[in-house]
Amino acid sequence: MKSTDTELKGIYQKEREGSYSLWKRAQRAMAGGVSHNIRMVDPFPFFVKSARGAWLEDVDGNRYLDFWMGHYAHILGHRPPFVANALANALTQRGYHFGLLNREEVELAELICHLVPCAEMVRFCTSGTEATMYAVRLARAATGRSVILKAKGGWHGANSDLCFGIHPPFEGPDSKGLLPKAEEGVSLFPFNDTETTKEILRETGDGLAGVILEPVMGVGGFVSADPAFLKMLREETERIGALLIFDEVISGFRVGLGGAQEMLEVTPDLVTLGKVVGGGFPAGAIAGKREILELARPGGPVLIGGGTFSCNPLSMLAGLLTLRFLESNANWLYPHLKERGELLRRKVEETGEAFGVPLRCTGTGSLFMTHLMREECQEKELRSPQDIEESTHSQWRDRELRLAMLVNGVHLLHGGGAISLAHGEKEMAFFTEALERALRVLKEGKPQ
Ligand SMILES: Cc1ncc(COP(=O)(O)O)c(C=O)c1O
Repeated sequence: MKSTDTELKGIYQKEREGSYSLWKRAQRAMAGGVSHNIRMVDPFPFFVKSARGAWLEDVDGNRYLDFWMGHYAHILGHRPPFVANALANALTQRGYHFGLLNREEVELAELICHLVPCAEMVRFCTSGTEATMYAVRLARAATGRSVILKAKGGWHGANSDLCFGIHPPFEGPDSKGLLPKAEEGVSLFPFNDTETTKEILRETGDGLAGVILEPVMGVGGFVSADPAFLKMLREETERIGALLIFDEVISGFRVGLGGAQEMLEVTPDLVTLGKVVGGGFPAGAIAGKREILELARPGGPVLIGGGTFSCNPLSMLAGLLTLRFLESNANWLYPHLKERGELLRRKVEETGEAFGVPLRCTGTGSLFMTHLMREECQEKELRSPQDIEESTHSQWRDRELRLAMLVNGVHLLHGGGAISLAHGEKEMAFFTEALERALRVLKEGKPQ
């Protein structure tokens, strides 16, 4: 069957009248109709009514097998009953925002220090964006230097310090409205390119405050950093006297209890956390060496906080219950998620092959991303955002594949997402069947 983009959009719209009318209102009330650009869908986003386990339901009653899982936050699935019940109880019996200290924040901080190799102390905030902003500030304060090296394509939230080199061509500011001087404080390096990055590090020398990167890179198809690359970063930052910062907002507690730093056996000076750490509620954290975190104590030289809602009791409780569950089930849970991830990546590539569509599926553990390889790049290894940009049709993945999968009841972002504990055998089979239907529809329309 041949179905054009227009036909797919027609089917999508016909089944989503309720979402469409909300969308028209949304565009009048919010810039572009959304409050996070990534939530935009072409031709219009669907509006979610509820979520449970691995499934979403929209306002028109359409059901979707979800792999976005709340920006990868829900490692146990949407609203696991033991977390939801404890929160409902806390909400009605205890209150939900004190703006003062609570027991759970201490217990969560202690647990993070116990689980994450570099964490000797923690400071909480409410998002990953704030966490990376504060990590950069700490690095500059601790070293008395200004330059931060970040990976080309690295996404650390849209904070003004790190809003550079995010999108192709991976250079310069990604937004208007930044101070021209801010650019002097950031240099960019190519992820997983050891030699070039080493040269950049040496050139920056004693101007370097720190290096920040995702050791499992989101925009890089969730590809893990090469251990030799990380080892070089660790050795060079130590030699230069700069800090190594891992942004583990996605990978923290996701690729393993101790995050990517444990998996890849390189310990940074600071780590930023988010997503899983709040158990599905808003939370971010900066953790790391005691002497660095101590700079932020009251009366200390570095200001971290503000944050009316930092350590919100619901976020702390949800995070604590989630991390405790992960800790007590780690022996089987992480190998299980990894196995599911490997199976799914294999299924994507096999299904592509069966339909004559050159798909590659990259990822680490439960994280995956699908790519349509360009004709001339079929053998190319994908190890960085630049590789993906040069060798794949990323627009096909983000538009055509996304829409064809939505129409078939699966919600993907960047052709992938994060498998949760709620994705069972039934869901895995549903995904493969939906992919087969989507590829059948897209086959004749795929880019040459
Ligand atoms: C690696 C990474 N760092 C930081 C952030 C920003 O986190 P938040 O959206 O909670 O502000 C994100 C969000 O997607 C992320 O993926």
